Amino acid sequence: MEFFIRYRNALLRGGYTRLLKPFFFRRDPENVHDSMIRMGRRLGDSPAGRRIMARLFSYEHPSLEQTIAGIKFKNPIGLSAGFDKNAELTSILPFLGFGFAEVGSITGEPCEGNPKPRLWRLPESQSLVVYYGLKNDGAVEISRRLRGRTFGIPIGISIAKTNSPETVDTEAGIQDYLKAYREFLDIGDYITVNVSCPNSFGGAPFHEAGKLDRLLSVLGETPANKPVFIKISPDLSPGEVDAIINVARRHVIAGFVCSNLTKNRFSEAVKERLVPARGGLSGKADEDVSNDLIRHVYSRTKGEFVIVGVGGVFTADDAYRKIKLGASLIQLITGMVFQGPQVISSINYGLVRRLRADGYRSISEAVGKGV
Ligand SMILES: Cc1cc2nc3c(=O)[nH]c(=O)nc-3n(C[C@H](O)[C@H](O)[C@H](O)COP(=O)(O)O)c2cc1C
Repeated sequence: MEFFIRYRNALLRGGYTRLLKPFFFRRDPENVHDSMIRMGRRLGDSPAGRRIMARLFSYEHPSLEQTIAGIKFKNPIGLSAGFDKNAELTSILPFLGFGFAEVGSITGEPCEGNPKPRLWRLPESQSLVVYYGLKNDGAVEISRRLRGRTFGIPIGISIAKTNSPETVDTEAGIQDYLKAYREFLDIGDYITVNVSCPNSFGGAPFHEAGKLDRLLSVLGETPANKPVFIKISPDLSPGEVDAIINVARRHVIAGFVCSNLTKNRFSEAVKERLVPARGGLSGKADEDVSNDLIRHVYSRTKGEFVIVGVGGVFTADDAYRKIKLGASLIQLITGMVFQGPQVISSINYGLVRRLRADGYRSISEAVGKGV
């Protein structure tokens, strides 16, 4: 069985990187993204499609299972927010090997996003430049799509403030978050409050501790019967992160998603000389800063909050590094774009081996051991 998984993944990886990726990478990135969503939706609607995907991409192992914040996860690798913006892939994602998925970000009002072009590849840096600006169908439409459904894996709902001049005022922004939050109180397994979108009108005002405190107070007036996470930027100073941690301590917050895209174009990880001026960077350009943030949050909180580690995860080693720094769960998008969808089961397979080599029986035992 182990041999079969390795052989299968190697074949799929070869097929993706030699055939599909060169074809995809010649086309406009947003068009490819849209085609993937359409194909994923079709596969999810078809029992045969779901069966074939499971054969190609599934992998399970007891040492990958965890219960975190009351939610059972079959494995720690999740789809990060921003790939399935309108929650159209929930039928197929469990069959691609994901242990969970975060849909959205979903805003109070429908939002066209920023003008095109708004997605670019940086092939040398193994990164994407993202300037979507929270394009999505809005909370009412998306909640209607999901209400009453059951999902094969835990589903997180990422909510954000509508990208428009109307929500720049703090109270208007809070009401916008509240609208999305209320729509999803009875849908999905957890909520992530995304306060770190780098591409929104008026910036990311709720990174500021006072405003975040006010936002969480208003949301907290209607308690969610599920865990609430906060997604933060890797570009914050340690002092700003500490202030956010202190705010979280005053509210019912399960943890942090570390991290969103970075705005830094001048790190060593960015190899291209010409990088679009707008947007945030994902992938390898985001990895070290996200790891620094995980390390910082974990060393300040030591298990008090769950950490979801995201940014530049392409391999089992990348995921294991984040786990050792304090992350209990991992998310990714860019690794899948550059390596293909088998990367999820490859990472899970590799994690089992690394846990075994280090004498751990489960992911939870390894969390934070590198800090
Ligand atoms: C195409 C794309 C769209 C994204 N949109 C969102 C979003 O709507 N909300 C959000 O919280 N993060 C968004 N992100 C950030 C990712 O969730 C993640 O934090 C970041 O890309 C780092 O992970 P990665 O290196 O595995 O891609 C987006 C990322 C990409 C690549």
